Amino acid sequence: MAILVTGGAGFIGGNFVLDWLAQSGEPVINVDKLTYAGNLETLKSIDGNPAHLFVKADIGDRAVIGELLRTHQPRAVINFAAESHVDRSIDGPGEFIQTNVVGTFNLLESVRGYWNELDEAARAAFRFLHVSTDEVYGTLEADDPPFSESNAYEPNSPYSASKAASDHLVRAWHHTYGLPVLTTNCSNNYGPYHFPEKLIPLVILNAIAGKPLPIYGDGQQVRDWLFVKDHCAAIRAVLAGGKVGETYNVGGWNEKPNLDVVKTICGILDELKPRTDGLSYAEQIAFVKDRPGHDRRYAIDARKLERELGWKPAETFETGIRKTVAWYLENTQWTANVQSGAYLQWVEKNYADRNS
Ligand code: NAD
Ligand code: DAU
Repeated sequence: MAILVTGGAGFIGGNFVLDWLAQSGEPVINVDKLTYAGNLETLKSIDGNPAHLFVKADIGDRAVIGELLRTHQPRAVINFAAESHVDRSIDGPGEFIQTNVVGTFNLLESVRGYWNELDEAARAAFRFLHVSTDEVYGTLEADDPPFSESNAYEPNSPYSASKAASDHLVRAWHHTYGLPVLTTNCSNNYGPYHFPEKLIPLVILNAIAGKPLPIYGDGQQVRDWLFVKDHCAAIRAVLAGGKVGETYNVGGWNEKPNLDVVKTICGILDELKPRTDGLSYAEQIAFVKDRPGHDRRYAIDARKLERELGWKPAETFETGIRKTVAWYLENTQWTANVQSGAYLQWVEKNYADRNS
């Protein structure tokens, strides 16, 4: 038995692979293209583990993926691979269409070819789990109920539109070809190994570097935050017990305006690594030009997952964010290496014309 994971050198995929191998002896074939967001250093602690096979490849490469599937005969494929950053999708949507839409299509075709060749028992047991986002549902008003699995898809950014398209392909491959698929739609993750282009790691690292903490618009946009290890546990639960063809919303019941998130991080840093001048890191907060088409609020109703599969998050935002800040303070080597030339170029480009 083995599973094949795509995007397992990224933030969530990397955490998933580490947790999987810590909890199970079942081998993982880890396929990642190693884009700017893929980082083998995240997987350093499993170097030499015979249960982990890393393969640098594109999910869209049917020859390589088909060969890997036939050689290793995984009982499941979990698709984390994607372009994942909304601001980058606004700056250049092409890669998002290529990987998230065309790549997912090619992956589905590779998997369908493999699955068709399996014997009856293996076909019945096989699962394709597609990891998606709550952003496919669009945006909520302040008093709207949270997103449930029956909400209409109303994606607003090139990123969320590309993820919505991939979800539709996955759904169609089940209805048309019978491929045994599962889809999860999760809210904002945070935790160790998060690439510092995203709000939480960016703010932690900017704060300790003495740089401005950029808040888009008025900072009152609301996100639901889930500790990444809780997301990994949810994916394991859906893989083990999810009903084929169904979608499951995953969330932390932690709705927070961005400004509150940033102030919370500043408060924890004030305690763990006080500024030498005695002032709070909150002094570094800087309001900058908003993200175009910025979704105002996301919130997730995760009751289906709890009711049907018994999953609920183990961390509150308060416990998870403290662990996260501590992790970044302790893992300076990982963060120093990640903040390479290409990273700096992106940061410069993204924030150059935002200062207002
Ligand atoms: P990430 O950007 O940190 O990692 C993505 C990984 O995919 C990288 O390792 C990258 O090298 C790899 N990759 C990209 N294109 C590829 C391709 N064509 N072939 C093979 N590998 C490729 O992303 P993440 O935050 O870990 O997100 C993982 C998945 O979870 C994505 O599908 C994302 O849409 C979804 N998701 C993310 C969040 C979040 O808050 N980060 C929340 C809900 C859902
Ligand atoms: O909701 C799930 C999604 O969460 C995932 O599907 C995406 O892959 C993931 O990147 C994340 O998307 P967001 O756009 O919500 O995450 P980000 O960290 O980029 O931004 C979080 C919020 O903070 C958002 O409202 C924009 C705001 N923000 C972001 C940055 C980078 C700022 O105010 N300043 C910033 O510098």
